[in-house]
Amino acid sequence: MTDLISASGDAASVDADVLVIGVFSGEDAPELPESAAGVDAAFGGRLAAQLAALGNTGSASSLTRLPAPEGLAATLVYAVGLGEATDLDDETLRRAAGTAVRAAFGQASVAIAFEGDPEATATGAALGAYKFAGYKTDGNGDDAPETIKVLGATEAAVVKASVLAESVAQVKDWADTPANLLRPPGFATEIEQAARAAGLDVEILDAAALTEGGYGGVLAVGGGSAAEPRLVRLSYRPEGAKAHVALVGKGITFDSGGLSIKPTAGMWDMKGDMAGAAAVVGATLAAARLGLAVNVTCTVALAENMVSGSSYRPSDVVTIRNGMTVEVLNTDAEGRMVLADALSRAVEDGPDAVYDVATLTGGQLIALGRRTMGLMGTESETERLRRLGEATGEQGWPMPFPEDIVKLMESPIADVSQCATGLKRDGHMVQGGVFLSKFVPEELPWAHLDIAGTADSDSAYGYIAKGATGAPVRTLVALLEEHAA
Ligand code: BES
Ligand code: MN
Ligand code: ZN
Repeated sequence: MTDLISASGDAASVDADVLVIGVFSGEDAPELPESAAGVDAAFGGRLAAQLAALGNTGSASSLTRLPAPEGLAATLVYAVGLGEATDLDDETLRRAAGTAVRAAFGQASVAIAFEGDPEATATGAALGAYKFAGYKTDGNGDDAPETIKVLGATEAAVVKASVLAESVAQVKDWADTPANLLRPPGFATEIEQAARAAGLDVEILDAAALTEGGYGGVLAVGGGSAAEPRLVRLSYRPEGAKAHVALVGKGITFDSGGLSIKPTAGMWDMKGDMAGAAAVVGATLAAARLGLAVNVTCTVALAENMVSGSSYRPSDVVTIRNGMTVEVLNTDAEGRMVLADALSRAVEDGPDAVYDVATLTGGQLIALGRRTMGLMGTESETERLRRLGEATGEQGWPMPFPEDIVKLMESPIADVSQCATGLKRDGHMVQGGVFLSKFVPEELPWAHLDIAGTADSDSAYGYIAKGATGAPVRTLVALLEEHAA
């Protein structure tokens, strides 16, 4: 893993293979910040003109590579656009730092000298240094830089950025792992090892314990697989905790759709259908590593949705942990089945708030795209997550509970229908949230985060690599920080 280092001094004299400077948007040429004065001097005062000649006018995350002239300690200079100087915000810094670090793969050391908040720069740089190791027998191309120096960053800022990036990297590794190499029992063991290393208490319910506990949703979904389902619970109990937060995650290690089987094209993406579980575990690990003063109980339901003689079927009526009955109409709506059990269990502890995270519906992707998660729940909590998501660069948007959709989720024979009457697609994402609301007490602060679109990216940009994004770990950590304050 890349070593993130706080550094001070002048950009011109910092020792690194690559020196990264930020430049602002200008009319004909980029505007150089004051901190680049020494670097510009080494270029004979012609840096802005040279960048302009190479087509860089400072637009956000544009990148130009230059050989360093004599007088600089570095070998290469990367100039990264930071956009308009007056609009400089944390997300611009994170993306610019991530863009530079991704461009510096194959170089051993990088130093970044930006204006603005060095913690944002450090976070973007650390996130950008992620690489999925993969399974190529003769290696997988250039590695991330071994060291990244962030000029002006405090030791605390670097530690915070490193903890966030480490937790996000763990989530991405899990989400990108092929489904044959991460099945529920093995995933439970990996979570247990990571949690114990962070000093958390761990409880794992196997199929026998799930039967004993009445977890009908997890057992129904997991029943079609040769690999048993698991419910994993992590507890973080620091001294002086200000609140008790329950985090819940959907951990479908592969979603074939079950008997309501998915089409071949795109089914491979369903190796990442456990990204919600990975994210809540990652946030819980980060809370422990940062020593946040908040009790966290994390409950993840792990199952593999497969096709076999023991698969659950459309028409089944399943009894959830809280005693409610659900009429199954589509075995591909498995996420809400396992979350019903996990939410039921989570609220039994009497937390002050509960948040569930899930790659729940294709409808989220259709409604909001790949960079905005869908939020549902109590207004205070969806608004809080919208605000925090905007600050972290993991945007979300609150969705309503319209009465026609609520009505569509009624079953003629059970307490609730798993899917809309006649499998109507109306308000597809909202149907999921309406269903989940049945398993959360009315007065309890709650939010449901549908990350079907945001859990992975089909392209690389800023600090995001192609593949799993680790979203919304940083938003969840910000949320836990608020509960700890
Ligand atoms: N895991 C999928 C949702 C999903 C789709 C995640 C695309 C990421 C990308 C979920 O289990 C699912 O299959 N949802 C169905 C629900 C429907 C059957 C009610 C969907 O969205 O079509
Ligand atoms: Mn599904
Ligand atoms: Zn799914």
